[in-house]
Amino acid sequence: MSTTHPVPSVEQVTAALATVNDPEIKRPITDLGMVDTVDVADDGSVSVRVLLTVAGCPLKDTINRDVTKAVSGIPGVTRVDLDLGVMTAEQRSGLHDQLRGGQAQREIPFSQPGSLTKVYAIASGKGGVGKSSVTVNLALALARAGRKVGVVDADIYGHSVPAMLGVADHRPTQVDDLIMPVPTPSGVSVISIGMLKPRRDQVVAWRGPMLDRALVQMLSDVFWGDLDVLLLDLPPGTGDVAISLGQHLPGAEVVVVTTPQEAAAEVAERAGTMASMMHQRVVGVVENMSYLPCPHCTAEGKDHRLEVFGAGGGDRVAQTLSQRFGYDVPVLGRVPLDLSLREGGDAGKPIVDSDPTAPAAVELQAVADRLDGRGRGLAGMQLGLTPSSKF
Ligand SMILES: Nc1ncnc2c1ncn2[C@@H]1O[C@H](COP(=O)(O)OP(=O)(O)O)[C@@H](O)[C@H]1O
Ligand SMILES: [Mg+2]
Ligand SMILES: [Zn+2]
Repeated sequence: MSTTHPVPSVEQVTAALATVNDPEIKRPITDLGMVDTVDVADDGSVSVRVLLTVAGCPLKDTINRDVTKAVSGIPGVTRVDLDLGVMTAEQRSGLHDQLRGGQAQREIPFSQPGSLTKVYAIASGKGGVGKSSVTVNLALALARAGRKVGVVDADIYGHSVPAMLGVADHRPTQVDDLIMPVPTPSGVSVISIGMLKPRRDQVVAWRGPMLDRALVQMLSDVFWGDLDVLLLDLPPGTGDVAISLGQHLPGAEVVVVTTPQEAAAEVAERAGTMASMMHQRVVGVVENMSYLPCPHCTAEGKDHRLEVFGAGGGDRVAQTLSQRFGYDVPVLGRVPLDLSLREGGDAGKPIVDSDPTAPAAVELQAVADRLDGRGRGLAGMQLGLTPSSKF
């Protein structure tokens, strides 16, 4: 802020405001009808009135900070007064129609013919194998590679994804019947089935038609914008969600997560088989908790892996599914046991962001890069990879 510059014009201020995105909708606030008034006084002080989509918008601090920063950066501005108002029902309904963009309700954008969004469902045979940890880390790894990523937490038993992404207890903003995905500090957006409950402490037995409705709602009533990748954290096993998903997102591809254990591998195979029955392609297997790097040998620079949970589960699932389907289902990666992976999940800061050089993070990033290397809009493309191929 300086007095040597002339007083800025309203156009300059509007141009600066156009650089501010609504944190949920991820589009300029000027395009969304959120800028109500702009006034520039002779002394260079600027008054801006911004309309929030809903009263008590959880992200008003972010908007406040971003608007103030953008406007105060204009030469000649001596002061910024920001007044936050709320859209009227009419304005909100206009925004709703704009965001829907003619898309009919109950239409799932990802299953439309021209959709360029890659959809990956992360499946496992049983719980506790690290399916959610893999999901959130792949999401962040893809975001680090520059992709726009959304995560649907469809795990009716756990819904642990929001906490792992640092947005536990956040409730999504709603613009009429359109739900805004919750933005996370890492840039990926998330919707969890747990957020669709009327009350947080409510216990809902998600089954059959109700579960199907919830899944459709997370896909069609959420304003995802233009995503490069959508990841779904499925509940473990081969139940109702797999069937719903097969019906609503037949183009989704499946990543199976298993541990090296024999028993885990067996149930993971079943999850893969189920996906295939629903005509979804299984693109690969992630073996998690593959080994613990021996602390003594690692300190001496030697590679000694302690096979805490046995060995061979990932290979077994990959081979069995390859034989069964007649196409190559590779092992996409082997993620070691890593204390900072668990700590990162607990703290809402996944390891690929919080400790990117840790071996588990490097491996998860490599899995994401392999998926990403398959390209956008190339569903069903032959991978041409084997577990041993170098990446
Ligand atoms: N590779 C790993 N190293 C250390 N801890 C892990 C690893 N993978 C998962 N965990 C931990 O194991 C627990 C279960 O993982 P989670 O991702 O919630 O599994 P799931 O979604 O399959 O039930 C979590 O506490 C998680 O932090
Ligand atoms: Mg989970
Ligand atoms: Zn050792």
